[in-house]
Amino acid sequence: MDKIIISGGKPLSGEIEIGGAKNAALPILAATLLSSEPHQLKRVPKVVDIFTMQKLLCAMGAQISEQDDVCTIEIKQITSCEAQYEWVKTMRASVLVLGPLLARYGEAHVSLPGGCAIGVRPINLHLTALSKMGAEIVVEHGMIHAKAKKLKGGTSPARQRPLQGMPIHFEKSTVTGTENIMMAATLAEGTTILTNAAQEPEIIDLACFLNGCGADITGAGTEQIVIHGVSVLSGFSRRGCTPYCIMPDRIETGTFMVAAAITGGDLMLRDCNPGHMESLIRLLKKTGVEITSGKSTLHIRGKAIRAVDFTTMPYPGFPTDMQAQMMALMTVSNGLSKITEAIFESRFGHAAELRRMGAKIYLEGNHAIVEGVKALSGAPVMASDLRASSSLILAGLVAEGETEVLRIYHLDRGYEKIEEKLSKVGADIRRIQ
Ligand code: EPU
Repeated sequence: MDKIIISGGKPLSGEIEIGGAKNAALPILAATLLSSEPHQLKRVPKVVDIFTMQKLLCAMGAQISEQDDVCTIEIKQITSCEAQYEWVKTMRASVLVLGPLLARYGEAHVSLPGGCAIGVRPINLHLTALSKMGAEIVVEHGMIHAKAKKLKGGTSPARQRPLQGMPIHFEKSTVTGTENIMMAATLAEGTTILTNAAQEPEIIDLACFLNGCGADITGAGTEQIVIHGVSVLSGFSRRGCTPYCIMPDRIETGTFMVAAAITGGDLMLRDCNPGHMESLIRLLKKTGVEITSGKSTLHIRGKAIRAVDFTTMPYPGFPTDMQAQMMALMTVSNGLSKITEAIFESRFGHAAELRRMGAKIYLEGNHAIVEGVKALSGAPVMASDLRASSSLILAGLVAEGETEVLRIYHLDRGYEKIEEKLSKVGADIRRIQ
């Protein structure tokens, strides 16, 4: 198994190009199931979770090719509507095929995802919403069996005021839940109104892609999304001459921002979207880091790190996917930081590994108290999930001596060439196979 070796203590300096967002590309790939015409996508990140989704779609009848960084995907006919446990246990986001399959094919058999390293992660809200739209759902032997001749929104002529339609209220903000139902509703009969919808930028990206295929979605990025069902969707390539370009990865962006901060470095990040980074920018500025935003650039200059408290929240709050990386930063701050994880029940797997590097972290329920130390010391450590693995790399960049990060298959699920990008800006980091 591969591992990453880092010799810490080198300040980073230079430019890094940010890639396409894994968490936007995953639902957009699933959405290609909604049409029989070809789609063209650009900036699809080359990470393992994306390869898994592409393989799953191929098992359902997709033809996928890649040329000059443009991914062409066509699903003329759905040849299988099953996502067995093999897929879902490899990647929970496989559940994103449920809504599109039901909407286009009228049937879906998808393994029920179990808990994972970061929490219980049920999908009850996806299933309740689909039932409300008329799907018959049976869960047995670990499989979700869903059928619907035609999914139904409420009856409402397009853009009727006051708006009428099938109200679907999410008790809790759910990102893939909102995406699944938004996709399902594009081909439903009538209008579906999602309330307390997730507002993450990835939802807007998915809506833009779907609207580009002929869907009628308004309000994505707000807590109310209205979807007027249409009878058929076209391929994205038919509508415009250019392929759909996936949004920049805001968690990759954030990870490199923290890399600059933790090493006292000076990094220019290109091809990112500073507008998506506001909560992190605010927090990092409070730690003393200097940040200048351009239209699609972020310039970060690291300084001595002040301790800050923060709580993870749905967008536009501070993202749970950046909690582990910020915790790594707090381990070398000059004070006491209180971190509250309010999205997932057990997303502190990295704390025990950071402690092995000399960090002082005390856990109590969903709170972590981090007492900054003068220096971390390199050690062999093990990644427990995707973002935990990047936090260990960040800690390794500043630790004295050598850090060996094991189980980096987690890292490869969501970061494209992270060690190459870091080594280009001065990190002493290498992968051993
Ligand atoms: N929840 C329920 N019932 C549901 C759905 C969610 O109780 O039916 C709960 C979850 O257990 C959790 C909270 O609601 O406590 C939020 O979960 P959400 O559904 O928003 O998470 P997700 O859609 O499964 C996506 C990202 C995660 C990211 C979370 C939160 C993708 C493919 N995954 O997961 O990304 O942490 O939103 O922002 O978009 C990662 O990239 O490392 C990652 C884990």
